[in-house]
Amino acid sequence: MNEPGRISGLLKNWVSLTGIFLGACAITTGIVLMVIDAAQENLSPYFGILVYLLVPGFIVGSAMLVLLGMLWTRRRMRRQGYVPRLPVIDLGDRRTLSRFAIYAVLGGLFVVVSAVATYRTYHFTESVTFCGKVCHQVMKPEFTAFQQSPHAGSSCTECHIGPGAQWFVKAKISGLYQVYSVLFGKYHRPIVTPVDNLRPAKETCLACHWPTKFFGAVLRTWTYFGSDEKNSPWTIKMLLNIGGGNPAHGMIRGIHWHMEGVNTVEYIATDRRRLTIPWVRVTDQSGKVTVYRSEDKQIRIADAKAATLPKRRMDCIDCHNRPTHQYRAPNESLDMAMAMGRIDSAIPSIKALSAKLLVGAYKTEAEALDTIAREMRSKYPDDARIAPVIKEVQSIYSGNFFPEMKVRWSEYPNHIGHKITPGCFRCHDGEHVSDSGRRISKDCKTCHTILAQGPGRELPEFSSSGLEFKHPEDIGDDWKTGRCDACHTGSP
Ligand code: HEC
Ligand code: HEC
Ligand code: HEC
Ligand code: HEC
Ligand code: HEC
Ligand code: HEC
Repeated sequence: MNEPGRISGLLKNWVSLTGIFLGACAITTGIVLMVIDAAQENLSPYFGILVYLLVPGFIVGSAMLVLLGMLWTRRRMRRQGYVPRLPVIDLGDRRTLSRFAIYAVLGGLFVVVSAVATYRTYHFTESVTFCGKVCHQVMKPEFTAFQQSPHAGSSCTECHIGPGAQWFVKAKISGLYQVYSVLFGKYHRPIVTPVDNLRPAKETCLACHWPTKFFGAVLRTWTYFGSDEKNSPWTIKMLLNIGGGNPAHGMIRGIHWHMEGVNTVEYIATDRRRLTIPWVRVTDQSGKVTVYRSEDKQIRIADAKAATLPKRRMDCIDCHNRPTHQYRAPNESLDMAMAMGRIDSAIPSIKALSAKLLVGAYKTEAEALDTIAREMRSKYPDDARIAPVIKEVQSIYSGNFFPEMKVRWSEYPNHIGHKITPGCFRCHDGEHVSDSGRRISKDCKTCHTILAQGPGRELPEFSSSGLEFKHPEDIGDDWKTGRCDACHTGSP
């Protein structure tokens, strides 16, 4: 029978021994895998799960087994009349001393290894690999768009969690629910945008961007190709007035005028995506308050109701809501590919056909890619120029359409601009008016100055003082009175 009083005596049972054996295996495996992880790059994301989640899980599990066995033995010994007592540590005794030294060294080693492992586990669950690749299918759209975006060099957590413990804990708790919903297929397709839970832009975007340095204007060129047989091109060159961030750098005029620190703009949105904005309040630097109310009967709300609704203070996300997950509309991607020459614009009706194929109702990506190739080959059977076009259109599809997750541009309206989404015209529609009759401007020159425009790709007409917009198709005054997205959707 076991000698009472010795901890090691309590270990002599098959449960604890199994625990010790499994634990030793897991620790050895863990150390070997960590060395491999440190030495090699680009390992599969599942490798990270194995090393930093499964192996530690196993070690904790084994430790529990050891403990369980010890408790079990202690109970059994008690029942048999033994009175276990705490071990006596007599460091004067050489045997105890050397044993103590061995335990201390092993224990210290264990603490160091687990500290490194915990640190690495923390980093792993914060990494782009973990966020973007582990739930491959679910996060594929966001991850793909992220890789093509100007933020590909940042990490998911820099926008979605940010620095500090409070949001870290919040994120890990909601993360647990997300793991559950993925395992049981309970998530929404497409994933619902977390607008309400996003951390304020002040604490994320401003960690890297310094908008008080925004001033002046940037030059943008837009080249469009028509849906006619000739794919007729039309070009617009404009200066976008991106200034406004800081009175110290010239006039506080321009797009970044709305921002915190300069002016306070608050608004009420009556839908979750913040597309319908009937009420806006501005507090300028001198403290003067102006309220703008929509005159549009379909969206306007009474003052009594407005007083009860939550108001949101405008920040970066109210315009840059898709700074990194940009799913481009087919017209936009095709215009870009044709302008760059990746799709030969001399092939008759190629724009119209490509756009039609991109927006088809497909169940899987594979079906879409097959259909695109088959249809294009059958429409242009003897045209040698078509092979690279097929590749390009397929690549546009894979980068912007995710049928398995029901993701495409129209699911996530981008608030920058106003052509295919309400965007700036949610407020700047000319119908938001103050008590004194002041309107939030829809004047085309408020935000940009058109330097040149017209058919073709080379533009002779050039004006540095700005031209009046000419709509490429004769639609009368409709572009002045209505919203552009009433006709333009981004696809044919
Ligand atoms: C530059 C900041 C930024 C980075 C980096 C970033 N996101 Fe986002 N993400 C956002 C914003 C902002 C939204 C909300 C979009 C909206 O309101 O329309 C969002 C939304 C999402 C959504 C909700 C679905 C959707 O598309 O609206 C998911 C899922 C997501 N991000 C995952 C990721 C993953 C995974 C990564 C890393 C691979 C990542 N994000 C990196 C800013 C970022
Ligand atoms: C980790 C640092 C980091 C964070 C956080 C971050 N950005 Fe960026 N952002 C960058 C970098 C780097 C670039 C690329 C700059 C370049 O290439 O000129 C960039 C570019 C941009 C651009 C210009 C895009 C273009 O097409 O030229 C916008 C707009 C932008 N970020 C908005 C945001 C918004 C909105 C947020 C918050 C949701 C945000 N960023 C958070 C680092 C960051
Ligand atoms: C939530 C409502 C709202 C949205 C959305 C909005 N704005 Fe504004 N904007 C305002 C208000 C209010 C003013 C001030 C109107 C006034 O008093 O003249 C303003 C003024 C401006 C000005 C003039 C600033 C100056 O120099 O005086 C510019 C430029 C501008 N906005 C650009 C934009 C752009 C570009 C977008 C879309 C990316 C946009 N705004 C989206 C509410 C909004
Ligand atoms: C009223 C809408 C609006 C708000 C609010 C806003 N921006 Fe912008 N921002 C724009 C527009 C419009 C552009 C130019 C359009 C483009 O490049 O697509 C722009 C351009 C930028 C650029 C690129 C500048 C360049 O030199 O090309 C960055 C970076 C940026 N914004 C960051 C931010 C950050 C960070 C915030 C929050 C502090 C913010 N913006 C708030 C509308 C806005
Ligand atoms: C409140 C600011 C604002 C006003 C007012 C405004 N625009 Fe714009 N417009 C923008 C911004 C911002 C973009 C750039 C969008 C982007 O970067 O994708 C843009 C882009 C455009 C483009 C290129 C669009 C594209 O996506 O292909 C055209 C054309 C245009 N504007 C015409 C007009 C005309 C015509 C008017 C007057 C009826 C007008 N805009 C009024 C802010 C404005
Ligand atoms: C009444 C409907 C209608 C409205 C409103 C409208 N457009 Fe258009 N627009 C058209 C049609 C139709 C075409 C020709 C489409 C084609 O050739 O594929 C067109 C073509 C264009 C083009 C040429 C490239 C392209 O996308 O095919 C631009 C740029 C454009 N519109 C900008 C605008 C802007 C900016 C506004 C808002 C200020 C606007 N449009 C409002 C109907 C409209």
